[in-house]
Formats: sequence, structure tokens, C-alpha cells
Amino acid sequence: MSTDKNRVVIFDTTLRDGEQCPGASMTLEEKLEVAELLDTMGVDIIEAGFPIASNGDFESVAEISRRTKNAVIAGLSRAAFADIDRCAEAVRHARRPRIHTFISTSPVHMKYKLQKSPETVLEMVAASVARARGHVDNVEWSAEDATRTEIDFLCRCVEAAIKAGATTINLPDTVGYATPSEYEAMFRTVRERVPDADKAVFSTHCHNDLGMAVANSLAGVAGGARQIECTINGIGERAGNAALEEIVMAINVRRDVLPYETGIDATMLTRASKLVSAVTSFPVQYNKAIVGRNAFAHESGIHQDGMLKNNTTYEIMTPDSVGVSKTSLVMGKHSGRAAFRDKLKALGYELGENALNDAFSRFKDLADRKKVVYDEDIEALVDQEIAAAHD
Ligand code: KIV
Ligand code: ZN
Repeated sequence: MSTDKNRVVIFDTTLRDGEQCPGASMTLEEKLEVAELLDTMGVDIIEAGFPIASNGDFESVAEISRRTKNAVIAGLSRAAFADIDRCAEAVRHARRPRIHTFISTSPVHMKYKLQKSPETVLEMVAASVARARGHVDNVEWSAEDATRTEIDFLCRCVEAAIKAGATTINLPDTVGYATPSEYEAMFRTVRERVPDADKAVFSTHCHNDLGMAVANSLAGVAGGARQIECTINGIGERAGNAALEEIVMAINVRRDVLPYETGIDATMLTRASKLVSAVTSFPVQYNKAIVGRNAFAHESGIHQDGMLKNNTTYEIMTPDSVGVSKTSLVMGKHSGRAAFRDKLKALGYELGENALNDAFSRFKDLADRKKVVYDEDIEALVDQEIAAAHD
């Protein structure tokens, strides 16, 4: 049984950072459908959009705020007062509103993007958080590009944000540059050095440019973060964000070394993945962890034989634990006799040993020509075998 200090809050940003990637835009109706599913599956915070970005974004944040029953609804805003006020107007309909405000803190972003000095940025941190606190009690502040920020300056910014009233401090790996040990160390250092750090919840936000977004998020939690920002199917800017389904199942499956808890109903993960894929028209890669169509499929003869004897031989979680009805033993050139016999049985055929051997050898020839052998191919092959036996 875990205690509250091990509870990790899941902040889903599919509708904001996820939607920000090229080609993933969603209509209002689609966003409402996704938000409803996220709320039902137990997401703690839904980042519904960036209200200043467009009237459409404003409307969807406002409508999601009106309709959502359980989750906190967050809207994103830059450090400008106009952004923050517009965001406040959109989330004010929520039962539990949050304003999420951010500014870049790395030298490269301050110099080229913001064209502002560190001292000006520091002033903007305090002013923006105070402005947001004037609207709502629940304010998140993010140090954009935190992982490329000088640690002393990062600590000063975090201190200013907490002093001004931020209740969550997010330290993003905006460009997916950090390694897990670096990311963990950054959280430890900031939490140790900043006075009153324990007044805020620390949060991870990882991009996947080097394929380390999920590992980095979990490392951030080891460093003391208790909120993870992530998206369904890992959609997001460039190579995407940390994938919600991978984080949840890593914690569920490896609780022995990841002693945390989320409030997510994991049996809804597959449904959420399919919905987000359908509304964004972004296919899910076949071998994607947890929700890819091959995640619970086995083709090799050795693996199929093992699975037929005991499913723990090659599966570390059950398909139903993530909402998939069953394991599939895909018939192909790597399949063995045991799986072939099992498949025939499932299709209603009982062949004698000789007929089975003949059918199996013809199946192997066929599998050499076709990538996947479907049930209909096997039925046709066995029907031919039976007909030949009667001639
Ligand atoms: O990646 C990032 O830094 C962001 C912030 C706006 C939180 O998405
Ligand atoms: Zn991001």
C-alpha cells in the first residue's frame, strides 16, 4: 500500500502540446470527446489548450472547463498579462481551474528568442505568477528549456515563482536533451537549494528527441517530482512528449523499483490511444509499447510455444490490463507446429498426425510467400488437405 507521498499526479497535455505538432489539430467536438475520456480514465489535470493562441483554442478551453467533472483544467499562457488574463477567462468555468504560465530561462532562449536579460526574465517570473494568482489559487510556473538553464539562475527563478505564489513548478526538458541521471540531479539540486521548495509540487515535462522522454520523466520522479506531464501515444512537438500509457504501465508493472501510484484506470489506455489516433489521423506505430498493434502479438515459433504453455514466458503484463481483449498468436513463417495445431483447433479442425504434418508443411510454404497468414488462408489450406484425403 503506498502513501500519499508516492502518488504521482498525471497532467495530460494531449490537447495542448500534443495538438501543437504539425497535422494533429482537432475540432472542438473531437477535443471534447478526448477530454471526456481523459477525465473518465482518471487523469488528474487536463491541459486543454492555449487560450490566447486563437478564438478556437479559447472556446475549447472554456467548453472543456464547463463540461469536465473531476479533473483540474489548465490553460497555458506566456508571461504576458494579456495571455494570463485571457487564460483566466477561459478556465474560470472549471470546477478546478489552473493557470499554467511559462517563460524561457536558458541563455540561448533568453538571448535569441526573448531578447531579454536574465534580470528582466526574473522580474517577469514574479510578475506573471502574481498576476495569475490574482485570478486563481492553482498556478503552475514552467521554466522553458530548464535542462539547458544555468542551475543557479534556475534556482533563483524557481524561488521567485514560489514566492509569488506558484503551487506547481515544472522543469521541462523542452528539446529532449537531458539524460535520466542529469534530469534526476536537476530536480534534487533545485529542491535542495530553493527555500520553501516543499511548498510546491515539482513536475516533469519531457520531449522525446533522443527517445528518452519516458525514462527522463521517471528519473524526475526519483529526483522528487510528483507530477508528470505527458500525452496519449506520446504525440507532441517534433519527436513528441512522454507517452502517458508507457509511464502508467511502467509504474504499474515495475512497482518493485518504481514505488509510485497514479489514479489512471489502465484498462482504458487502449481506448484512449485509438481515440487520439482517430481524431488526429496519426497512426500508432505497430511496435509502440503498450498500445501498438504488435504489443501483445507473437509470431516466432519458440515464443508461441512458450505462450501456449504459460503466458508469463513472453508477456510482462496481460493484454486485458491495458484494455486489449487477448494476446494474438500471429501465424507467419516463424510460427511453430504447436501454434499451428492450436490455431486449427480454434478454427474447429482436428487433424490426424499425418494430415497435420502435411498441412503444416504447406502452411510454411505459404508463409514464405505471404507476410501474414490469415485464418481464411489456413481454412482454405486445410479444406484442400481434407478434400485430397477423400480423393
Ligand atoms: O516543452 C515545453 O517547455 C513546454 C512548456 C510550454 C511547458 O511545452
Ligand atoms: Zn512541451
